[in-house]
Amino acid sequence: MCVCVCVCVCVMWRGSCGWPPDEVCLSDVCVSFTAEQGTRWAGWHWKSGRSPLQMLYHGDQPELSIPQMTHQARRELLEEVCRSYTRKRRVLVQEDLKHLIVDDQHGLLYCYVPKVACTNWKRVLMVLTGGGRYSDPLQIPANEAHVPSNLRTLSEYSPGEINQRLRSYLKFVFVREPFERLVSAYRNKFTRSYNTAFHKRYGTKIVRRHRADPRPEALERGDDVSFEEFVRYLADPRTQQEEPLNEHWERVHSLCHPCLIHYDVVGKYETLEQDSRYVLQLAGVKHEVRFPASAQSARTSEDMAARFFRNIGPLYQRKLYSLYRMDFLLFNYSAPAYLKFRLH
Ligand SMILES: *[C@@H]1O[C@H](CO)[C@@H](O)[C@H](O)[C@H]1NC(C)=O
Repeated sequence: MCVCVCVCVCVMWRGSCGWPPDEVCLSDVCVSFTAEQGTRWAGWHWKSGRSPLQMLYHGDQPELSIPQMTHQARRELLEEVCRSYTRKRRVLVQEDLKHLIVDDQHGLLYCYVPKVACTNWKRVLMVLTGGGRYSDPLQIPANEAHVPSNLRTLSEYSPGEINQRLRSYLKFVFVREPFERLVSAYRNKFTRSYNTAFHKRYGTKIVRRHRADPRPEALERGDDVSFEEFVRYLADPRTQQEEPLNEHWERVHSLCHPCLIHYDVVGKYETLEQDSRYVLQLAGVKHEVRFPASAQSARTSEDMAARFFRNIGPLYQRKLYSLYRMDFLLFNYSAPAYLKFRLH
């Protein structure tokens, strides 16, 4: 019944959205049913009797807790920014859902963003969906967490199944200060000798296009890309004309579509432990699985990002800021103080 309501509203609202079969007809109108409608019919199999979504929107306490207030404020800000900055709206297609990992046992949808603790979140989801195969996330080797067949993504489901899950599951994403994430991606993919696949695939192209007089070995290997060259590659219009940005430096806005998918929880890398605990608590599994603590010291910090940006001139700083602007705005990150250009 709900599906019918949703589809009708959607079709009427959009004029036409090709339903069925090829487009996933998820509109803002549909998702605004989430809290009410979703919870009423989603409660068929949750162990605790309540889905994570119900836990979030219909908690036991009359007063909101601090995490509840924090996450409500983040959701409201996100919605506000989406309203102000996205003019043309479009309909989600199956292709857009490749980054959403599904946990049908617990009613969770997680949009993974590389360089934002996604290996650990994938490990946790492998524990949660593994049917007892794993108990400790850290026992799962990192490379195994990234084998696509180990987890299911929402794009693998039919449109009807997709809409049902978007309505009734707890949708969450973890984000990070955009330039810290970018520097982290650069350090990981271009300054580690073992990442030869990235050197070959991206490094050689960057050296060819953005270095004057490159040495033949550098052209061949692409293993000594500087941060400056990487930035020029990102700011070059040809880069995105040729293919989408690699997921390690693609914007969260483009990976997770936060203006089309209404995330219930926006976790932050800066408060990773507490935000992860909150999600696991809503999922009713805080005693079954612990989010792995990570070594703080190895992280890319603001100081480190500032050092990398010192060599970038104001023109390219500005271009880079424009590229990542939506991620700054949507997730309430202010332009870093170390930037050398004026925003207004
Ligand atoms: C946005 O960030 C500011 C400054 O860090 C903070 O005071 C405010 O509470 C944040 N707002 C939301 C909605 O998270």
